[in-house]
Amino acid sequence: MDFEFKPLGSGGLAAVAADALLVVVGGKAVPASLDKPLAALLSDAAMQGDFEFKANRCLYVHRPAGVTAQRLAFVAAPEGSVKAFKAALSAGLAALKALGVAQLAVARVGFDAALDDAAARALTAAVGDAVYLYRHTKPSAPAAPKLARVALVGEKKEAASASRGLRRGAAVAAGVELARECGNRPGNHATPSFLASEAKKLGKQFSLDVDVHDRKAIEKIGMGSFLAVAQGSDEPPRFIVLRYQGAAATKAPIVLVGKGITFDSGGISLKPGAEMDEMKFDMGGAASVLGTMRAIAELKPRINVVGLIVACENLPSGRALKPGDVIQSMSGQTIEVLNTDAEGRLILCDALTYAERLKPAAVVDIATLTGACVIALGHHHSGLFTADDKLAEQLLAASRSALDPAWRMPLDEEYDEGLKSNFADMANIGGRAGGAITAAMFLKRFTAKYPWAHLDIAGTAWKSGTVKGATGRPVPLLTEFVLSRAG
Ligand code: BES
Ligand code: MN
Ligand code: ZN
Repeated sequence: MDFEFKPLGSGGLAAVAADALLVVVGGKAVPASLDKPLAALLSDAAMQGDFEFKANRCLYVHRPAGVTAQRLAFVAAPEGSVKAFKAALSAGLAALKALGVAQLAVARVGFDAALDDAAARALTAAVGDAVYLYRHTKPSAPAAPKLARVALVGEKKEAASASRGLRRGAAVAAGVELARECGNRPGNHATPSFLASEAKKLGKQFSLDVDVHDRKAIEKIGMGSFLAVAQGSDEPPRFIVLRYQGAAATKAPIVLVGKGITFDSGGISLKPGAEMDEMKFDMGGAASVLGTMRAIAELKPRINVVGLIVACENLPSGRALKPGDVIQSMSGQTIEVLNTDAEGRLILCDALTYAERLKPAAVVDIATLTGACVIALGHHHSGLFTADDKLAEQLLAASRSALDPAWRMPLDEEYDEGLKSNFADMANIGGRAGGAITAAMFLKRFTAKYPWAHLDIAGTAWKSGTVKGATGRPVPLLTEFVLSRAG
């Protein structure tokens, strides 16, 4: 998708040339600044009861009189926030989607706030979501929408900020698309080796340094806990390291660690059958690391970033990990595996130990870690866990700015109690209560050497039901966070 800023000419919106012009209307009345032919159309429609100044209401006009664009759509965003602007855009784009629009112009009238970086990013996100369609294993999928160019129309003085937002947003949208595409691929396609080859492809395309470790190399590093999960599957595991260098080599990197369980059956602690197919999305953390690395590599901020992906399947077999088994993590700490379905933390803990050798400025792991997090927060906020208040505020600020919500959860030492074991340094599960928190407490035991945060994206990485599919979250949050750390 091609995004550009278009300064408003003397002819006003009526003179904007495009296959379609989408006007997002702020406020609760026809904006005074709207030029005549458009204002006449809108007030007439409102009078007839065909348009209301209520969130996301649309009005479509074909070949509007006195307007250069072939098609015109109005959509209401009376509340006026960036979030409302994005929701209105999504509604407007849905109305235009089926049409043969290749070149779209978008304008914003009746808003109090100037058209800025955040509004421009909201546009790229809404467009990215509107045009994405999974088709890789579905030959019968409808043809891709024709939309190829989107112009954001605004005042000349808004050009710098809006253009910056479009550039940033386009890179994020491409990262989100990559994460969605990886997530949506079925488990027999999106294997650990597939994730490795996607990482290699990224590396070639954007000159990132990419190392892929196979089972033997993983053994050599000593990732015993990760290998214990992988041992039940015939599909070989991969440990993937992606390096982006935008600052001096001596500068401490931000490290992103992604859970890449390409299918989670639960292992010997087998999951119930209903909706088990959705456990192909259990590599959403890994997908978000790939997507974020893509966005960062395109935007080239002055910062160093390392992506770590731990990828394997969690399956039952004659060689699989059993409840009661005690394994040794890379850190030396031993773990009694009381439930083989709590596998995410078992692979992540070794990647978190590996991260120590990168002498990181901060480490953020991203994982579809617990069903309990879905119960706690639903599908809107990702769960944020960290003992570091400064890091928490940075991540929450990034989440707000990127319209990719996250909610901070507690991480008090009291929650560690449940992880005690008679046979190892810790058990891999606590009780049912506070399950998302005890999972985070488990990870915390491996992160003493650096500032660390954990994002539980079990409720936000994909959608279920008729709209089943990967969301690409939290690529927007992570990219914004990395950019904010670059200053
Ligand atoms: N990948 C799942 C978490 C999950 C479950 C995400 C449902 C989204 C929807 C994870 O590996 C898992 O199975 N966690 C267990 C942990 C439990 C055994 C302590 C869970 O949440 O049930
Ligand atoms: Mn599991
Ligand atoms: Zn899992």
